[in-house]
Amino acid sequence: MIASECQLTVNPHDRVLSKSELAEAASDVDGLLCQLTDIIDAELLDKMPRLRIVANCAVGYDNIDIAACTKRNIAVSNTPDVLTDTTADLTWALLLAAARRLVEADRYVREGKFKSWSPMLLLGHDIYQKVLGIIGLGRIGSAVARRAAAFNMPVIYYAKKRKSAEEENRLNVEYRPFDCLLKEADFISLHVPLNEHTRHLISKKELELMKPGAYLINTSRGPVVDEKALVRALRNNDLAGAALDVYEYEPQIAPGLTDMVNATLTPHIGSATVETRTRMAVMAAKNILAGLKGEKVPNLVNWEMENKL
Ligand code: GLV
Repeated sequence: MIASECQLTVNPHDRVLSKSELAEAASDVDGLLCQLTDIIDAELLDKMPRLRIVANCAVGYDNIDIAACTKRNIAVSNTPDVLTDTTADLTWALLLAAARRLVEADRYVREGKFKSWSPMLLLGHDIYQKVLGIIGLGRIGSAVARRAAAFNMPVIYYAKKRKSAEEENRLNVEYRPFDCLLKEADFISLHVPLNEHTRHLISKKELELMKPGAYLINTSRGPVVDEKALVRALRNNDLAGAALDVYEYEPQIAPGLTDMVNATLTPHIGSATVETRTRMAVMAAKNILAGLKGEKVPNLVNWEMENKL
């Protein structure tokens, strides 16, 4: 799509470019289609004087300094909606995998340890009728909540802005203040964007408030959880388990985390299906083409740029 209308340069490596490589390769571009692994900050923007649009191929855009873009009259877009259900599905896959010890069980079979059915073999915990706590009830959090009905789980949620009574009824969710949710939920799933308010939202104090047998699931952004504190909690069996798709210092994993059998770990694959990644790519391409033509950018993040392109 892009090559048919523009002169296109693609990162030739199957890896993330360093900041200096990106600055050099993209110094004279008008548009940049990037991934969440590309850090787009003021220093980089200063080396790209022609830039008019940054199209992130992700719904989260914490990798981009939005204020710095707006200040330079650069539009920023993301890829919302198309990945909502896919990410909610992975959240449930992780929840189920953690509760029913799926990864351990798979390893057990592969290692030739399955000699006989046994009444105490790999006992997990039920999920039905357990309380699901959702932190952040946006698009993905709501899609996770909708799926809970199929598992007969009551859902409580905390969000910065409480939903209307109609919306709560429609989703069959009950609001709780943050600390109350931490104390009450058997499974806690995080669905907040990463920003200065949500960095380390779940740290030592919050982990201590959680039920001893609770599970933490994170498919949002790694730095929302203090990973060091989480490792400590898992090591002490303060929690039953954690299931993580994202990490504080991605792709590095906190020391000790991979040793924990009560941690289920996937490599940031929330939206990783053929269908969804295709939709995200097409959406990002449409955004960048609109921006370059001075048309309305369908998924503009910095609304101040609305009529400025
Ligand atoms: C993935 O993490 C995304 O933000 O799209």
